[in-house]
Amino acid sequence: MSEKIITLSRHIIEEQRKHPEATGKFTDLMNDIAFAAKLISYHTNKAGLLGVLGETFNVNIQGEVVKKLDVFANETMIKALDHNGHTCVMVSEESEDVIPIPENYPLGRYAVLFDPLDGSSNIDANVSVGTIFYIYLRVTPEGRPGRAEDCLQPGIKQVCAGYIVYGSSTMLVYTTGNGVHGFTLDPSYGEFVLSHPDIKTPKKGKIYSVNESNFDYWEQGIKNYIHYVKQVDEKTDRPMNSRYIGSMVSDFHRNLLYGGVFLYPASSRSPEGKLRLTYEANPMAFIIEQAGGRASDGYRRIMEILPEHIHQRTPLFIGSEKDVAMIEDFISGRLS
Ligand code: AHG
Ligand code: MN
Ligand code: MN
Repeated sequence: MSEKIITLSRHIIEEQRKHPEATGKFTDLMNDIAFAAKLISYHTNKAGLLGVLGETFNVNIQGEVVKKLDVFANETMIKALDHNGHTCVMVSEESEDVIPIPENYPLGRYAVLFDPLDGSSNIDANVSVGTIFYIYLRVTPEGRPGRAEDCLQPGIKQVCAGYIVYGSSTMLVYTTGNGVHGFTLDPSYGEFVLSHPDIKTPKKGKIYSVNESNFDYWEQGIKNYIHYVKQVDEKTDRPMNSRYIGSMVSDFHRNLLYGGVFLYPASSRSPEGKLRLTYEANPMAFIIEQAGGRASDGYRRIMEILPEHIHQRTPLFIGSEKDVAMIEDFISGRLS
């Protein structure tokens, strides 16, 4: 095999070697997530053929219609993680309560939180969707079932965060706090291969990504910022460019590579914002910070917020450092 091919498994093993305390259990856990990703990727690509498109006519706990592929992705993530002996509890967007490990399986040290399918409203149109995950070391005693408090830690306690984007190719991007690394799934031999080592996002971007139909519901600071980015000014390279897919994973991934900012502000309709602090904002915040960017709720660093419940929402401003800092200035009124 060529020396130049670095698979995800090899990369994780080599990363773990830098930490003498690592036991290899984390490597197993990541391999289980990568396996789930391959299954979801396969199913996403085949969705039209397999007849799994469309709504199941269930409504999930967020009041949103759940698509069939959400159900498949959720079950796949749970089944991949519940038996390996490394997980003690899980949280999924699709389950109201924490997901326990079945009684007949051993319990491990890690709590895993995930959004099994992000951007699900886009599935039927063949638009990119994704999976988001992140991992905490448990804080409750080992040997017993994990609890919500294992999952309600601030984002700075994450030991790993990642996402998989099912796009024109399938990519897995992850960090363990030692840079951000991207792997592309080679469908011919079913391996994630390192394609984007040590991703760094530009300090200042050209793209802004927001659902502007919410404009009238926003506070004045956000309105002022959006007005600002559209003004013509050569000196500051404006107007910025608008790009919005409506799948956060895909919007985030593009902005990570090209530079830019993704906004999902609070609004008078949803005063807490729409996106979830836990399995949406926190993992992306860890990744963007490791890539040299910034993630904020407008006032605070996302990763320092102490979550109170597992489906907590937050306003989110995430991307290139200077762009996020500028949004904070508009929100606080330092800029108008
Ligand atoms: P999910 O599909 O997991 O429910 O997440 C959808 C989220 C996120 O992916 C996206 O950025 C956002 O919702 C889009 O919301 P709007 O349709 O309100 O723009
Ligand atoms: Mn989501
Ligand atoms: Mn989802």
